[in-house]
Amino acid sequence: MNIIIFGPPGAGKGTQSDFIVKNFNLFKLSTGDLLREEIKKKSSLGLKITSIVNSGSLVSDEIINNLIENIVSNKNYKNRIIFDGYPRNLSQAENLNKLLLKYNQKINIVIKLKVSLDVIKKRITGRLTCSKCSKTFNKFFNPPLNMTCCKGEALQKRDDDNVDVAIKRYETYEESTEPVLDFYNKMNLVKDLNGEMDIVSIQSKISDYLTVIEG
Ligand code: AP5
Ligand code: MG
Repeated sequence: MNIIIFGPPGAGKGTQSDFIVKNFNLFKLSTGDLLREEIKKKSSLGLKITSIVNSGSLVSDEIINNLIENIVSNKNYKNRIIFDGYPRNLSQAENLNKLLLKYNQKINIVIKLKVSLDVIKKRITGRLTCSKCSKTFNKFFNPPLNMTCCKGEALQKRDDDNVDVAIKRYETYEESTEPVLDFYNKMNLVKDLNGEMDIVSIQSKISDYLTVIEG
């Protein structure tokens, strides 16, 4: 099965995707993680996108769609992808549809996590991320045992994790990304979940949905 995990910044897309990867043997395709990798490597793409990502705007569709085709076309990931942070506008949704058709695949479910801006601000300002494996913790809601992960790797704040950029990312979500839901509603694929429940309760609801799809 292929899944889209959908929601505003800080909704818990990455947290829930990691759970799905472990429990349903899927592959996570997080466009945000891929872009941050490029920024960390200081590749030519990374240098081009640093200021865009750090301002909370969207990177161009051309860049993103190229990253996506590399994965969707890979036979190892066929019908086992979780799209986290993609598609983020209508043109990306249309592109994904074309690609899935080309490689004989489809989306089975779109899981939408609903979270208010107040909760988002707290989640984003409290988030700590492992720069090696991208696992996230939260100093308010999900504190790490110590400040390390991956055998000593320090936890860090993302460069776009401050209140001002979080608000900008939320506005970008409302303007460009939320309309994508109509696209998937027409295909009857959207399941709404209250993203303000605790992490384990959300995992349990997601498991129920995915177990039904697996048959
Ligand atoms: P991206 O990395 O996708 O960021 P985002 O969408 O803003 O989402 P986040 O990663 O901030 O939040 P999340 O929903 O994954 O939450 P998480 O699980 O970490 O994109 C970053 C940037 O890259 C974009 O702004 C854009 O510039 C660019 N970009 C990316 N994709 C693009 C695309 N397709 N097109 C164009 N540009 C693109 O959880 C957040 C925190 O809350 C954590 O600390 C976690 O521990 C905690 N938490 C999670 N769930 C719960 C819970 N239920 N209760 C309590 N705490 C929780
Ligand atoms: Mg994320």
